[in-house]
Amino acid sequence: MTTPTSLVRATARGRRAEVLTSDQQAFGGPGPASPSGDAGAVALALDDVRVAFGNTVALDGVSFRCRPGTVHTVLGENGSGKSTLVKLVSGVLAPQRGAVSIGGQPLAPCTPWGAGKLGVATVFQEVLVAPTLSVEENVLLGQDRWTRRAQSRAVRRARVAEVLSEISTHPFDVTGPVGGLELVHQHQVAIARALLTDPAVLVLDESTAALDVSERDLLFDAVRRRMAQGTAVIFVSHRLDEVLTLSDEVSVLSSGRKVATLGHGDITEDRLLHLLNPEHHTP
Ligand SMILES: Nc1ncnc2c1ncn2[C@@H]1O[C@H](COP(=O)(O)OP(=O)(O)OP(=O)(O)O)[C@@H](O)[C@H]1O
Ligand SMILES: [Mg+2]
Repeated sequence: MTTPTSLVRATARGRRAEVLTSDQQAFGGPGPASPSGDAGAVALALDDVRVAFGNTVALDGVSFRCRPGTVHTVLGENGSGKSTLVKLVSGVLAPQRGAVSIGGQPLAPCTPWGAGKLGVATVFQEVLVAPTLSVEENVLLGQDRWTRRAQSRAVRRARVAEVLSEISTHPFDVTGPVGGLELVHQHQVAIARALLTDPAVLVLDESTAALDVSERDLLFDAVRRRMAQGTAVIFVSHRLDEVLTLSDEVSVLSSGRKVATLGHGDITEDRLLHLLNPEHHTP
């Protein structure tokens, strides 16, 4: 894993809000689980989950919680099980042991559709777009609940353009095919799809890897706006500066096991480096 030389320390505090705007009520999917003021609320819970691919144990005995309006980062070396955890939360994989629940409800059926119904929106590590469909069609892909609620095509198109402009300075032609875009802009289309419905749980798996700093910051602003409405964020990144900037909690995985979960006051560069590489870094 790479470690940046300059580390930014800033907190993502002071961002709470209690009500949804009328626009969010009109366009939201199932909506955020609850405002972040409820300290006991859990937006997402994994309990003692295990996933194996043949002889490879990708996750073993992992429990994990994320509260509404907070960011829980998942850190770990390549192959430590981060994307497997993401796929469990998103209903792409079912655990062979243990349970996944969203907003207090068991994830059943354990399918992407089931997770979407409970308000999970995921930006996967691999860019998932349909190259021959337009930007607009890609952002709206799988958003049937939302598109049914939107009044007209013009309203839908305006909302797609609005979400894209929240996270990108690129002048997207929403009617053009996604296959003609640079990879970074394809990635932004996938991000816009996840942000469109103001999800209860937003999952970002290495979503900043392709972005430059200014567009990364736009994404973080967009994420914080969702958090202020109660969205819980599962964040996967290799960049420690981002992790230190954004996280309320950090869980570190190693070979499919959870090594530790740090709360906000305990998240320091030294501690993270030690947890990631105990033999070579002493706090
Ligand atoms: N579909 C699959 N079939 C077989 N093995 C898999 C599959 N998916 C993941 N694995 C294995 O499970 C382990 C965890 O993989 P995972 O993709 O969750 O790691 P990761 O932490 O996301 O890694 P990276 O930082 O490279 O994205 C690895 O050993 C990987 O090779
Ligand atoms: Mg991964």
